[in-house]
Amino acid sequence: MNRPFCELHLHIEGTLEPATIFQLARQQRLTLPYADEDDLARRYRFTDLQSFLDLYYDNMRVLRSEDDFFALAWAYFLRAGIAGIAHVELFVDPQAHSVRGVAETTVLRGLRRAMDRAREELAISSSIIACVLRDQPVDSAHAMLEAVLSADVAVTGLGLDSAEAGHPPSRFAAVFADARAAGLHVVAHAGEEGPADYVWEALDVLGAERIDHGIHALDDSALVQRLVADRIPLTVCPLSNVRLRVVEDVAELPIRRMLDDGLCVTINSDDPAYFGGYLDDNLRSIQDAFGLTDGDLDKLCENSIAASFLPDSEKARLR
Ligand code: ADE
Ligand code: ZN
Repeated sequence: MNRPFCELHLHIEGTLEPATIFQLARQQRLTLPYADEDDLARRYRFTDLQSFLDLYYDNMRVLRSEDDFFALAWAYFLRAGIAGIAHVELFVDPQAHSVRGVAETTVLRGLRRAMDRAREELAISSSIIACVLRDQPVDSAHAMLEAVLSADVAVTGLGLDSAEAGHPPSRFAAVFADARAAGLHVVAHAGEEGPADYVWEALDVLGAERIDHGIHALDDSALVQRLVADRIPLTVCPLSNVRLRVVEDVAELPIRRMLDDGLCVTINSDDPAYFGGYLDDNLRSIQDAFGLTDGDLDKLCENSIAASFLPDSEKARLR
């Protein structure tokens, strides 16, 4: 990729490769419920979002110390450097770690060390978006936000992820109001498996500035008009949508329509270790499927810069 793409939808725990899982388990003398890396990799055939999330959360057992989170993020940054990524706004799921006794500060400090090194050695800038697990109690989300805001590592935003169906954004209205009052940016997964109504709620109730996925927003033309009018970006993840059976093939994704309708569509990798590819692989997959021109790729790159939470001076530097 010879363009300065920003990656805006990347779960850092979703970059945990089978080799790293086994390496960390060996270091910690942990016995895994898989015979070897191939046995684990064979389980990466998902039927829906929940079938993926079950394995995703289970594999996090190998992430315990600050060094483990550093190793996880540094391995991602090395791969992001190969992909030519200029800036990353990475998601992390603090509740998935605090439930195992791993403090928010342990997680954030490990990530921060890798982020500092990536800026110095790879010229990749980055920031952190802590995500609320929408299938967990509201109290747990409040506690996570409080812990993150009082940690000695700054986060840029609050996101909403995990199992979408049956978990509307409005449950977390108060948590997101607190985050906005604290000066955080707000984003939300919506319209991945859930309906267009959840996208409306993410916008109107949570105040989301970007919608993660948003594929089902295209089922509602008034919603599309709203997203265009308010320049609300969508962070689309093509290989994820195929692996989680949102669509059978990338060619079924409404990416051409999104571009033609004037939506600020961006391309991202979601959980690349699980879905068969990093940002460059995702871009290649849609380039082939949609016959994207250089102009389309320029547009997708520009959208990723415009949709980022970088200050204007940094955006100008990337353009
Ligand atoms: N957590 C990690 N990946 C996710 C996805 N694709 N959707 C919702 N929550 C997630
Ligand atoms: Zn995601």
